[in-house]
Amino acid sequence: MADYNYVAPQEHATKGGVLAYLLTTAAVLLLMMLFGLVMRAEQAQLISIGANAFYQLMTLHGAGMVGIAGIAGAAIMWHFLGQYVRLSTTVLYANLALFLVGVAMAIGAVFIGNFHGAWTFLFPLPGNSMGLWSNEAAATFLAGMLVLGTGFLLFQLDIARALIATYGGLGRALGWPQLFGHDDGKAPPPTVVASAMVTVVNIVALVVGASILAMMLVNLYYPEFAIDPLLAKGMIYFFGHVFINATIYMAVIAVYEILPRYTHRPWKANKIFLLSWNCSTLMVMFIFPHHLLMDFAFPKWMLVMGHVIGYLNTFPILIVTGYGALILVYRSGIVWDMASRLLAVSMLGWAAGAMPAFIDGTIRVNYIMHNTLWVPGHFHTYLLLGMVAMVFGFMYYVTKPAAQHKDALIDRLAYWAYVVGSFGFALAFLYAGKESVARRYAEHLPAWVPYDRIGTAFATLVVGAALVFVGRFIARLAHARSAHLRAPAPLGVAA
Ligand code: HEM
Repeated sequence: MADYNYVAPQEHATKGGVLAYLLTTAAVLLLMMLFGLVMRAEQAQLISIGANAFYQLMTLHGAGMVGIAGIAGAAIMWHFLGQYVRLSTTVLYANLALFLVGVAMAIGAVFIGNFHGAWTFLFPLPGNSMGLWSNEAAATFLAGMLVLGTGFLLFQLDIARALIATYGGLGRALGWPQLFGHDDGKAPPPTVVASAMVTVVNIVALVVGASILAMMLVNLYYPEFAIDPLLAKGMIYFFGHVFINATIYMAVIAVYEILPRYTHRPWKANKIFLLSWNCSTLMVMFIFPHHLLMDFAFPKWMLVMGHVIGYLNTFPILIVTGYGALILVYRSGIVWDMASRLLAVSMLGWAAGAMPAFIDGTIRVNYIMHNTLWVPGHFHTYLLLGMVAMVFGFMYYVTKPAAQHKDALIDRLAYWAYVVGSFGFALAFLYAGKESVARRYAEHLPAWVPYDRIGTAFATLVVGAALVFVGRFIARLAHARSAHLRAPAPLGVAA
C-alpha cells in the first residue's frame, strides 16, 4: 500500500544518482547559457563570430538546453517520486550515461562535422546541406538525438512500471477513482499525479520522436525511402513540443513537495487538481499545431485544434498550481530563503511566460508574430524564470545546511540579478518581436541592434547570477558532511 504522507518517512535510498544529474545540469546549463550569450552578442554586433559559428551554437544551444531541462526535471521527479514508489537506480544511471553519449555525438557532429541544421532537425534540411556538412555529420547528430531519446524512454518506462506496480495502473496514479467517483480523500499525492501525466505524454512523444529520427537516418543513406515532409514536420514538432512542456511538469514537483515543508501545510490532490492534470494530459498532446499555423498545407482541422487547445491548455495546471501555492503560503509564516524564493518566483515566471504564447496562439496574430523574436521571448520567460528557477530552487533546497541557515548576501544579490536579468532579457526578445525582428537570424539590421544590446546586457546578468548559483551549489555540497543528499526534514517556521 502506498504511503500518502506528504512528508517523506525517509529519504530515498539512492541519492548519488540525483546528485550526478544535478552536477551535469549545472555544467551543461552554464555552458549553454554562455553559448546563448555569445549568440546574443553576435546579433548585437558586439562580437563577430560569423553566421556559420552562430548556427553551430544555435543548434547546440537548442538541443543542449532542451536536453538538460529534461535531465534536471527528471532529477526532481525521481528524487521525490522515490518516496512513494520503488524506482530503479540502474535505469537512472543508464539514462544519464546515454544522455552524455548523445551530447558527445551532437557536439562532435557540430564542431567536427560542421552540422548546423538546428535542434529541430527539420526534414529534409539535415540531408540537404548544399555542401556545408556531410551525411555522416547529419547522421551523427540524428543518431545522438536518438541515443538521448532512448535514455529518456527507458527512464519513463521504469517510472511507468513503478507507478503501475504501486498504484495498480496509470489511471489510478492519475487519480481516476477519485476524479470520476467518490473522492475518499485518498487520491495519490500531487507528485504521483504529475509523474503519471509526464510519463504518459513523454512515452508517446519519445516513441514518435524516435520513429521520425530512425526514418530520417534511413532516408539519409537510401533517399528512395521517401518521407512525407509534412508528416515529418508534424512528428518532430509533436515530439519536441511535448518533451519541452513535460520538463516544467516534472520540475513543478519541487513546488508541490518543498512549499508544504516550508509552510507545514499539506498539498492535497483534490478533484479540481486531478481534473486539471488529467485534462492537460490530453491537451498537451494536441497543442503543438499552434506552431504550424502558418503552414497552409496542414489540414485545417489540425490548425483549428492547435488554436483552441492552445487557448484552453494555458490555464488548468498553471492556475491550480499558482493558486495552490498562494493559498499555501498565505499567512503561513514561511521562511523566505533562496529555495522558497526561487520556487515562488518560478510561479510568476511560468505564468508570465504563458501569456505571450496565448497571444501568439491566435491565428491572426500568429501570421505576423510567429517567425519573430516574440517566440523566443515567450519560451525564454517560462523556461528561465519558471523551469530553471525551479531547478535552482531545488539545488538550494537539497544543499541547505540547516533549517536555521541564513542565506549569504551574495545569494540574495544573485537572486535579484537573476530575476531582473531574466525579465529584461526576455522582454528585449518580446519587444523586438513586437517590432517584427526576425527569429533565428545571425545578422541583424542596424535598426534592430539597440534591442539586441539591451538583451545582451541582461543576458550577462543572468549568466553572472547562474554562475553564483552553481558555485554556491558546488561549495555547499563540498562542505556538506556527507556527499549524500540529506533527508528533507521539515524546515523551521518563522517565529
Ligand atoms: C543566459 C541564458 C540564455 C541566453 C543568453 C539565450 C540566448 C538565446 C538566443 C540568442 C537564441 C536565438 C534566438 C533567435 O535569434 O532565434 C536562443 C534560442 C533558444 N534558446 Fe536560449 N538562451 C538562454 C537560456 C535558455 C534556456 C534556459 C533554455 C531552455 C531551457 C533555452 C532554450 C532555447 C531554445 C530551445 C532556443 C531555440 C533554438 C532554435 O531556434 O533552434 N535558452 N537562446
